[in-house]
Amino acid sequence: MPPSRTAPAASRWAWFARRLAVVVAAIALAFVGWTWWSSILPGTYSAMDMGVPEYGGGPGSAAVHAGTHGDSAVDADTTAAATGSAGDPTTSVTDLVADPGRPVDVRVELVARAERITPAGGEPFDGFTLNGLSPGPDIRATQGELIEVVLRNDDVPDGVTLHWHGVDVPAAMDGVAGVTQDAVRAGESFTYRFVAEQSGTFWYHSHQTSHPQVVGGLFGALILEPAAEIDATADAVAAIHTYPGGQRTINGATGDGHVRAEAGATVRVRLINTDSTPTSAWVTGATFRVLAIDGEDLHSPGEVEERAVGLTAGARADLEVVVPRRGAVRVQVPGASLVIGPDGAEADTSSAPGETVDLLTYGEPADPGLDPADADRTFSYDIGRLPGFLDGLPGYWWTINGGILPAVPMYMVDEGDTVVMRIVNNSGEVHPMHLHGHHLLVVSRDGQPSTGSPWWVDSLDVAHGESYEVAFVADNPGIWMDHCHNLPHAAEGLMTHLAYTGVTTPFRLGRDSGNDPE
Ligand code: C2O
Ligand code: CU
Repeated sequence: MPPSRTAPAASRWAWFARRLAVVVAAIALAFVGWTWWSSILPGTYSAMDMGVPEYGGGPGSAAVHAGTHGDSAVDADTTAAATGSAGDPTTSVTDLVADPGRPVDVRVELVARAERITPAGGEPFDGFTLNGLSPGPDIRATQGELIEVVLRNDDVPDGVTLHWHGVDVPAAMDGVAGVTQDAVRAGESFTYRFVAEQSGTFWYHSHQTSHPQVVGGLFGALILEPAAEIDATADAVAAIHTYPGGQRTINGATGDGHVRAEAGATVRVRLINTDSTPTSAWVTGATFRVLAIDGEDLHSPGEVEERAVGLTAGARADLEVVVPRRGAVRVQVPGASLVIGPDGAEADTSSAPGETVDLLTYGEPADPGLDPADADRTFSYDIGRLPGFLDGLPGYWWTINGGILPAVPMYMVDEGDTVVMRIVNNSGEVHPMHLHGHHLLVVSRDGQPSTGSPWWVDSLDVAHGESYEVAFVADNPGIWMDHCHNLPHAAEGLMTHLAYTGVTTPFRLGRDSGNDPE
């Protein structure tokens, strides 16, 4: 009830202030409600409708300014690719395959199951296997060969896929549920075919509900050997993985693994970090060299002593070690190790060295075959964190260029573009950034140019407060995830896509689609 005319001014003010507070609260509530409501994603949507197209100063920018896309990140019908440049023909991602006429060189069948696993020396848990194993079998092929992998899902309830991490496969073979294929349901199968154009250390993992499935065991090593026989170097795979319950393993076994090698033998140790967090490796009993990172050889890598090598989530590092005349050499990671030497030979353990090999200055420079100064497009990938709603859920979510998914940029390129991307992280945590289908040349870190060997990555740790400039050539048409490989972070919205103008996808994401790549 309004105060009477005769009430003192102070009480009239109090009445007014209360009314005002109610109105302000109602407006704030309406705003929060609207923010919540508008964050709810459709039951299914196309990856192409997720995000706001960004053209990085290259062709296509005009279409955005002409107003075909507003701020609304998920549009019902229009797709960025379809409207990218007027009159461009479109290609479905499903048409981007290896030459169907080529005979198969290496054929592998993998059967996925949900089952109880006990890592050697560890405790049982409910996980996932491929052909009854976790990790799944090592897949080996020689550069230039055509690999065919038939994936059958026996009984994994959420469905499965396989993504070939670090292999720049044709887009239809990328294994991302809802973007390049539908999740393979129990009782179904999917055939992957691609030519091994690269050589080096890679890995494969499910990209359907990838967080629980990868942690639970749905992954394996993929080794592509060089076509030209270089020397008689022995090779040892070391897939590092932490299973549920914090069980640290190498190649599925806890504790010390042993690799038989003679005194004097040169061994290439292929370290793969299959976890969501960074790790490091170091060597006791010998010096070593870092031969390759993420399947790309380093140029003139020097000998390393008393330093560790950092491994981003998803990353690989190939170390060359020489077995000493007496004893063995130990490659250690926190919580597990690999002893390499003759039967029964022992090697000391040591604590992690304080210093890490800095790949920005390691090795000798060489022509990387790409000129970042001549970029056709320059993008920002600015990682932050804000309170808000993601698909109706309140939380403190990751942001890209200030927006919570799906209000994130969709990076648009044309085939042949040279692209520079500036990744900046002010989110409070480290993020292992992974772009599918391409390798990134590290140009600089915090403004300091790379002066060592050309440093190519597909997975790059960007710590809080750091900035990296990376460059790549857009030479693999498709729609490619560009996300954090700390898989829970990706599920919390730290993911977007790099899309080629004119490429579309018939697959759908969203809660009713059956596809959930994270
Ligand atoms: Cu290894 Cu998108 O992932
Ligand atoms: Cu992250």
